[in-house]
Amino acid sequence: MHEEVLLLNILVTGGAGFIGSNFIHLLLGHRQSDRLINFDALTYAGNLDNLDDIHEGATYRFIKGDIADKETIKKVVSNYQINVIVNFAAQSHVDRSIIDTTPFVHTNIEGVNTLLEVAREYHLAKFVQVSTDEVYGSTPAQTRFDEQTPLNPSSPYAATKASADLLALSYFKTFGTPVCITRSANNYGRYQFPEKLVPLMVTAALRGKKLPIYGNGQNKRDWLNVQDNCRAIEMVMSNGKPGQIYNIAGRQHKTNLQIVKIIEKQLAVIHPQVTFVKDRPANDQLYAIDDSKIRHELGWRPEFSFEIGMGDVIDWYVIHPERWQPLLKKVKNR
Ligand SMILES: NC(=O)c1ccc[n+]([C@@H]2O[C@H](COP(=O)([O-])OP(=O)(O)OC[C@H]3O[C@@H](n4cnc5c(N)ncnc54)[C@H](O)[C@@H]3O)[C@@H](O)[C@H]2O)c1
Repeated sequence: MHEEVLLLNILVTGGAGFIGSNFIHLLLGHRQSDRLINFDALTYAGNLDNLDDIHEGATYRFIKGDIADKETIKKVVSNYQINVIVNFAAQSHVDRSIIDTTPFVHTNIEGVNTLLEVAREYHLAKFVQVSTDEVYGSTPAQTRFDEQTPLNPSSPYAATKASADLLALSYFKTFGTPVCITRSANNYGRYQFPEKLVPLMVTAALRGKKLPIYGNGQNKRDWLNVQDNCRAIEMVMSNGKPGQIYNIAGRQHKTNLQIVKIIEKQLAVIHPQVTFVKDRPANDQLYAIDDSKIRHELGWRPEFSFEIGMGDVIDWYVIHPERWQPLLKKVKNR
């Protein structure tokens, strides 16, 4: 009984994906007394090899399932006495949302609604919805969007994430469900599926392939080390105020072309292979968010400098071809 009061039983959904698996590594590294259930549908982007150094036991368990499956979620929450949900599960790739919106609506909206319903029914202590800076839409130059900025998503992906944010906030306002939302910048790090810019370009460059960049390569993103994001999400899980949104920035704005040039330089590519391809429809020019709130209220600061963090990550993909080579067959248009 005493143990139950102190224990956090955390349901991490989407824990086999990029950010979720980094989050599980972080938590299991220093929260040995908590219990963590990783619930993931293992879509093309879910990869249990991301967690192959972690063994199932008293503190960690993997369960395969869909977050939109209410009966299963209820069973997991009840069987494992879950008191916290951190939701990373999502369809996360903008290009795929332009081809077919259906899985995005299913997971990013219906799935989140299911998790919220269960959180409400079981009176969970915290529900963290992991969202994105893309919900604000493109930022005008010299501007930073804070948490009060109205949502203005451009892609179907961002629209489903914005919908989930609004649903989550409505659960807080209507039912008092203790929801927090994190909206982070573009993450870079290990275990990312090689359809996203950094691993896509590194793995293509290592194989001497063309490096296709959308439009003129001048679209700017803010780059955040995934481990810094995971520390921020843990802070929000532990100390975030219910009903609040927290932006998490990298404060490292780079054009896509700059990122590819950094990769080429580090890999000492002799014959650059950059090609400019037709831009993605509704491709936002810039994402720029103000992260003063999480810095002041929760004391979060990034630990990684962009140069060291990005350098290490590029090296990791170079040193570990066994991590990404088996995944290439699942990447579209390679
Ligand atoms: N990667 C980024 O740069 C970034 C930036 C900001 C926000 N985010 C958000 O962070 C979260 C995680 O992103 P990521 O890059 O790790 O994504 P990812 O695509 O690497 O991982 C998503 C995971 O969710 C799982 N999943 C998908 N549908 C599911 C379902 N119906 N039920 C259960 N599991 C399901 C997948 O199997 C996969 O393991 C997403 O919500 C995304 O919107 C990502």
